[in-house]
Amino acid sequence: MDSSPNQDAEFFYPSQQIVDNAIIQDYEALYKQSVDDPQAFWAARANELEWAKKWDKVLDDSKAPFYKWFTGGVTNIITNAIDRHLKTAHKNKLALIWEGEPGDSRTFSYFALNREVSKFANVLKSLGVRKGDIVTIYMPRIPEMVFAMLACAKIGAGHSVVYGGFSVEALAARIEDAQSKVLITADGGWMRGKIVNLKEIADEAMSRQPTIESCIVVKRTGQSIYMEAGRDYWYHDLISLPIASPNCPTEPMDAEDMLFILYTSGTTGRPKGIIHTHGGYMVYTYTTFKYVFDIKEEDRYWCAADPGWITGHSYIVYAPLINGATSFMYEGAPNHPYPNRWWQMVEKYGISILYTSPTAIRGLMRFGNAWANRHDLSSLRLLGSVGEPINPEAWRWYYTVIGKERCPIMDTWWQTETGGFMISPLPVTPLKPGSATKPLFGIIADVVNEEGHPVAAGEEGYLVIKAPWPGMLRTIYKDPERYQTQYWGKYGNMYQAGDSARKDKDGYIWVIGRIDDVIKVSGYRLGTAEVESALVSHPSVAEAAAIGLPHELKGNAIYCYVILKAGVDKNDKLAEELRQHVGHEIGPIARPEHITFVDSLPKTRSGKIMRRVLKARAQGLPEGDLSTLEE
Ligand code: PRX
Repeated sequence: MDSSPNQDAEFFYPSQQIVDNAIIQDYEALYKQSVDDPQAFWAARANELEWAKKWDKVLDDSKAPFYKWFTGGVTNIITNAIDRHLKTAHKNKLALIWEGEPGDSRTFSYFALNREVSKFANVLKSLGVRKGDIVTIYMPRIPEMVFAMLACAKIGAGHSVVYGGFSVEALAARIEDAQSKVLITADGGWMRGKIVNLKEIADEAMSRQPTIESCIVVKRTGQSIYMEAGRDYWYHDLISLPIASPNCPTEPMDAEDMLFILYTSGTTGRPKGIIHTHGGYMVYTYTTFKYVFDIKEEDRYWCAADPGWITGHSYIVYAPLINGATSFMYEGAPNHPYPNRWWQMVEKYGISILYTSPTAIRGLMRFGNAWANRHDLSSLRLLGSVGEPINPEAWRWYYTVIGKERCPIMDTWWQTETGGFMISPLPVTPLKPGSATKPLFGIIADVVNEEGHPVAAGEEGYLVIKAPWPGMLRTIYKDPERYQTQYWGKYGNMYQAGDSARKDKDGYIWVIGRIDDVIKVSGYRLGTAEVESALVSHPSVAEAAAIGLPHELKGNAIYCYVILKAGVDKNDKLAEELRQHVGHEIGPIARPEHITFVDSLPKTRSGKIMRRVLKARAQGLPEGDLSTLEE
């Protein structure tokens, strides 16, 4: 990546037209109001939505850090994402425009979306899915994935979406933790002109975790696959049954009932099941989307993430629908068959807001400007970035070549745990390339030292959030203790994000990166421990350590150090086999960039691998305090 961001860089100001048309024109005034009385602020936003019964209390902090929001309130996120639109002119507005990688396309109005979701919700009920169950979804980026998520929510079942780029062990571990009885998948999905064999991976995962009683398979590619009698059903067969009526009542849910569980990587090998709820998450994603993307009736919004990650949950599926927006979704790779694929679709569908990751931007930037310049991108009015810090070079390219210096870039900092945007500009905010700028409404963000005191302007420290917010995770599934220690353990009353950051003299926040054993590869979050346990599951491996090192395109890449079992030969073929093995177990994104065979690993006296030392050595940097090193 290019040079580090310049905190004193000049501001980029939005045009007068953007300011005049923005929903929020005075950030400072509303921010002050929101943090002076957060409960009044959030109650007002919640009041814009439909509730079967209003809440008794906006925030219940009696069992902090197990905060509850809108307690006593009854609603269902689907009431606001679908049902209420059917009573307005939104009924016939497009909710979803979709294009497959081979070029096929489908569109769904809110009316059609309701039909598809209701039919599938009835199917799930007929298979015995009940309120509170967790259904695992492992699918390509196709409309049925959205229907499946919404159908679960509608009947009060939690969904656990496993990213389609994950593989056998990652899927099996998540099925096991959630104890899912129903799995929804597809015969495959298209990626770079090839088929990803999701059902084959699902079969292997189901054989490792036999909790699945019913597996529903969407026919996407038409390739021939194995279907187990009595367990596997075709989606199209099920929704053609009389049971799949297009009428299905939306289950009334307590505001604090689980909406979904989404597994994410942390410091141990076992992924954490992050829990989000119907009430608070609904209000939070609705509000943040509305203000940050300044959503207008005529917008065509495209979040290019995968629905399998939090970005897709919040900002492909839920927030746009709650806001009655039109969302575009694309199945495949940005550069297939050519690097103009995205720009061609921006032009074809008249996309006005594009939200993507620095990795995707860097990946397209390397093909030069000509691919974008061939297309009319004048429909764009706002751009967004998420997942990792955006380096100024990529920012400038995005701003100039894609946005033609007209479109402000919303660099949104947030996490699976936060549910929605936390630190982000609004369209009216003066921008500095590489900074997510300032906290959003109701969010008190700061950068502190080891003792929890704010650091001086420009100094590096820990990023913390000093007050609860409605979209926050409620707990880690089946592990409340880990929730408490991991996020609130260090300072007691401050949420620890796990990131390091700086705050400059203008109060702008610059996120630097993870400070724990989480590696951001192409914006995807992976745990070193997950990669290490995948390596150790190979018969030749005795011990392994994984670290992340800077990578020009991916932000970070995974480097592994492996101690082989006695008598095993170190050679390139084995290194390649191990890389493939990690890819098979976790997924292609986790495949190590490089594997080095070693005879020992730097460890503390208590036996913990000192990844920090490995990282410093690999980069030729000072190794720091080695007093705890064993040898
Ligand atoms: O390190 C931060 C980085 O992504 C982490 C959260 O990852 P995940 O839970 O997968 O969610 C990603 C999508 C919301 C954060 O701890 N991160 C996310 N957005 C930004 C970012 N780093 C810098 N700038 C961002 N805009």
